[in-house]
Amino acid sequence: MTTSPRSKQVHAGQAIYRPWTLPLYDLVAFKVNCRVLFRVPVSEVIAMFDRNVSPEHLDVGVGTGYFLANCSAPQRSITLADLNEHSLRHAARRLSHFDVTTVRANALEPLPLAERSFGSASMNFLLHCVPGSIRDKARVLDNVAACVRPGGRIFGATVLTKEVPVGPVARVMFPSLNRRGVMNNAEDSLSDLRTELAARFPEHKLAVHGCTALFEAEVP
Ligand SMILES: C[S@@+](CC[C@H](N)C(=O)[O-])C[C@H]1O[C@@H](n2cnc3c(N)ncnc32)[C@H](O)[C@@H]1O
Repeated sequence: MTTSPRSKQVHAGQAIYRPWTLPLYDLVAFKVNCRVLFRVPVSEVIAMFDRNVSPEHLDVGVGTGYFLANCSAPQRSITLADLNEHSLRHAARRLSHFDVTTVRANALEPLPLAERSFGSASMNFLLHCVPGSIRDKARVLDNVAACVRPGGRIFGATVLTKEVPVGPVARVMFPSLNRRGVMNNAEDSLSDLRTELAARFPEHKLAVHGCTALFEAEVP
């Protein structure tokens, strides 16, 4: 696990996910935050999962496992990777009808998983939790893509604050969420995300809903 000077910020980005907060997560994240702050339809995110999840899927930054539980893609085995043991336990319980493996790992570091072993990988609502510029966060793209077979899919959503329409409630809330380290997206821009995706994935797609970017790419 990381010991860099950033480790306090990395820790803060996952610290809110606790046994007593996770039961409220779906309500707060999808009924309130997605509607009022991020202004992204949850149905768009589910559709992204439906388009991209393969039978051997890796999910990094798992939360409660909501999207894997609610998408209709043909999942068989699911590997859950997260820095937070409570998120891992919660999501694994919810998805226990699949063949589930859990791995505790920091997505900013190489993942302790076999390279090129998955058909698809998601990192949904993860990048805005991890510290650093989009350029720093792009290490997550590399670490996740390394686990996916060439031709496989990687995808996710992240909340941006620059070059996207940030609504009035979000403009009030984001600074305090960033100060507390719950979110780390004060400098995250659409053009930086586009640059990092283009540098790695010749085939990629980026769509914006509210202040949320949804990205999908083929691993070369
Ligand atoms: C906002 S939740 C997203 C959950 C889920 N993917 C979703 O779309 O609802 C962020 C998740 O990422 C995890 N996380 C935050 N920082 C991380 C890091 N550096 N490495 C791995 N997981 C991290 C948190 O523990 C949490 O489970």
